[in-house]
Amino acid sequence: MSALESRAFTTQSPADTERLGEALAALLPPGAVVALIGDLASGKTCLVRGAARRFGVERDVHSPTFTLVNQYGPGPAMVHLDLYRLENVEEVLDLGYEELFSESAPCFVEWAERAAGLMPSTRIAVNLEVVGDNTRRISIENGGVLPPGWPDALEKALC
Ligand SMILES: Nc1ncnc2c1ncn2[C@@H]1O[C@H](COP(=O)(O)OP(=O)(O)O)[C@@H](O)[C@H]1O
Ligand SMILES: [Mg+2]
Repeated sequence: MSALESRAFTTQSPADTERLGEALAALLPPGAVVALIGDLASGKTCLVRGAARRFGVERDVHSPTFTLVNQYGPGPAMVHLDLYRLENVEEVLDLGYEELFSESAPCFVEWAERAAGLMPSTRIAVNLEVVGDNTRRISIENGGVLPPGWPDALEKALC
């Protein structure tokens, strides 16, 4: 993968990770899918919380661990999936695939690797790693979704 297509960022606090999520959200085309991959407490929900701010979501943002999905309004502002407890991919289909991955609302998917086959082929992949108590390494793969110049735009959000 070329350097242009992938960039790693280091965040030093939850607020930093939220800022990165917010900046990423600002670059997303309508209906973009963001697959978040990383252990418990690696910061997936934190990043989604930042993105939600950008989409005007006023509700608190938490992992929908038991319900699998949160749909935030007003209107279809943003979809948030958490597949941690997914037992089979049918459960995702039962939620309504078309609605989850619609052309209008962005969709953020925690534990996306649990339903890798269901993820649209055009998507952003975000890998999160715990490096220290407050440090996370967050690697973003464009997947042909983000506009040119995206790595610098995200870098700026962390300054
Ligand atoms: N740089 C950081 N980015 C994100 N979270 C961090 C960071 N440093 C510490 N944390 C802590 O790690 C936890 C991340 O939780 P969360 O976002 O819910 O993770 P996940 O959804 O991946 O399980 C929170 O308790 C948060 O305070
Ligand atoms: Mg989470």
